[in-house]
Amino acid sequence: MMKISRCLALALALPLLGSAGGVPAHAADQGPSKSAAVKNVDGLYLDAKGNPTYKIAPDGTVDWHTFSGFRRFNGTCEVCHGPDGAGSSFGPDLTNSLKTMSYDDFTATVVAGRTNVSASQDLVMPTFGTNKNVMCYLNDIYVYLRARSDGVVGRGRPQHHEEKPPAAIKAENECMGP
Ligand code: HEC
Repeated sequence: MMKISRCLALALALPLLGSAGGVPAHAADQGPSKSAAVKNVDGLYLDAKGNPTYKIAPDGTVDWHTFSGFRRFNGTCEVCHGPDGAGSSFGPDLTNSLKTMSYDDFTATVVAGRTNVSASQDLVMPTFGTNKNVMCYLNDIYVYLRARSDGVVGRGRPQHHEEKPPAAIKAENECMGP
């Protein structure tokens, strides 16, 4: 009996050992460079997972989408989340949220909103799914907050930014409509 169960244990352990080969790739995700831009698609920078991210030049020049995100965030979200995403009594500090929140969770939350039923106050994150001023710039808002969360963009308006890419002009026109 003992021998059989040891064999079983070994048979079970082998696939587990095999899966340990996946660890280095996972660990790489958690390094300080998890937001690093590895690709530029028509002026939108993407990280290794294909999610939108920022690109900050050594002289502080930010990519177009980070700059656009600063403007859009501070036009719609700051009333609750505070200027530059730093939080207020009406909404959480998003520079903190983005440290753990995935791109998909972020977009889902902004599209569908959220009601915190357990809070003593009625704290409601509105639904923005039909608001073009938010939906057409969701990636911009995300990359701006990501840069704020990683501490690479400070408070206030970024001083210098890249030119607006032709693809961004086209996408904006198509999304916003006539
Ligand atoms: C009317 C106030 C209000 C506005 C405007 C608002 N939010 Fe929120 N938001 C909230 C509140 C309150 C919560 C917390 C809800 C909860 O805990 O259930 C929240 C939560 C969030 C979260 C989840 C944070 C976390 O840690 O889980 C994200 C992301 C977010 N908001 C993004 C945005 C963005 C982007 C905008 C602008 C397009 C925006 N919000 C505008 C009130 C607001």
